[in-house]
Amino acid sequence: MKVNDTYEVRIIDNDINGNGIARINNFVLFIPFCLKGEEVLIKVVDIKKSYAFCDLVNIIKPSLDRCDSVCAFYESCGGCNFLHTNYDYENFIKKSNLERMFGYNIEYYSAEDDLFYRNKATFHVKDGKLCYYNASSHKPCFINECKIANEKINYFVNYLSGFNLTGIFEVMFRVISGKVMVNFICNESYDIKSIINEDFDCVYVNNEHFFGEEYLIDKVGRFKFSIYPNSFYQVNPEGMKVIYNIAKKYAGKGDKLLDLYCGTGTIGIWLSKNFNSAVGYEINESSIKNAIINKELNNINNIEFVLGNASSVKGEYDVIVVDPPRSGLSKEVREFLNSSSARRIVYISCNPFTLQRDLKCINNYNISSFSAFNMFPRSGHVECVVLLEIKKE
Ligand SMILES: C[S@@+](CC[C@H](N)C(=O)[O-])C[C@H]1O[C@@H](n2cnc3c(N)ncnc32)[C@H](O)[C@@H]1O
Repeated sequence: MKVNDTYEVRIIDNDINGNGIARINNFVLFIPFCLKGEEVLIKVVDIKKSYAFCDLVNIIKPSLDRCDSVCAFYESCGGCNFLHTNYDYENFIKKSNLERMFGYNIEYYSAEDDLFYRNKATFHVKDGKLCYYNASSHKPCFINECKIANEKINYFVNYLSGFNLTGIFEVMFRVISGKVMVNFICNESYDIKSIINEDFDCVYVNNEHFFGEEYLIDKVGRFKFSIYPNSFYQVNPEGMKVIYNIAKKYAGKGDKLLDLYCGTGTIGIWLSKNFNSAVGYEINESSIKNAIINKELNNINNIEFVLGNASSVKGEYDVIVVDPPRSGLSKEVREFLNSSSARRIVYISCNPFTLQRDLKCINNYNISSFSAFNMFPRSGHVECVVLLEIKKE
């Protein structure tokens, strides 16, 4: 097999990221935009030891589950992975892949809105225009609408298309409870004032506050959460409630809660009523600033927030919630969890592959419940929440 070779293959399965899987001899081939059962013409683009990545050249026999993409930029953008099929079939693929990976019956939920749900989008600038960079090809994709971004973000993408943005490198938009935050990363000499829209509620330039509100406040359930541009905040506000309520059910009630990788303190605050005390641990300074504001905003008195690396966390806790980035837990955190006396660990994960690796190492605990929530419809991502209970001697 060589790069640029073409083959006619039958798709034997789909992976969790939406790729079709085919086999030639002992080689596993991954092909985007394909569905199980389809016959397709493919071209080899990258060969590894036992597998290869291919491009889809032509569909010879389509699946009945195939549909036309609602997005004109789908194949060049790379941000979505399931727009060539319907939402139900995407959920079927994600659920069945998770059950196969973990060998567990998963309680699976999906977000109601599969389009226009993202409250955040970051664009690059090329040739003076906003674009996304395709994650695998790194080629710019100039778009005038992102089908999974909030409509207000799309409105302002179109607004900025009327300007020459040369001198700006990146534009981050967030829409929080209807208000718009923008952070421009640009040359000092770029005249940002000339492109400011009066409907921007909060503008930052090179991460410094420039205009409008200093931070935005989201209302989620009975809570209020402040957000600075560089703080972590869940991108799907509907999904956030679902995930946090699963975490609340799994964590139960207890004495001392640890919210590790706490971001702006949202989970600790959501669960705080069920615990005598709580500690949130987070490495990002901006997020911790929000967490401290959020504690005040919600009149929560039994929680404290610590700025620090999760790898250096210490102490004994009754219940531990971990919600790490896609890279998962560090070796130190896995060891900390494994030697802890916490009755329960709730592991929230946005990457099933690192979750699988970490669960194999936390062997003093048994999995007692496993939920997944399609918080990122149409993309290859899915959120999992796992309850681990300490093994009885
Ligand atoms: C998936 S987010 C979860 C945040 C929060 N639990 C929430 O629901 O909004 C992961 C968080 O881990 C933080 N983080 C990444 N590496 C870390 C580390 N080594 N120690 C502590 N926090 C870290 C990130 O800044 C981010 O806020």
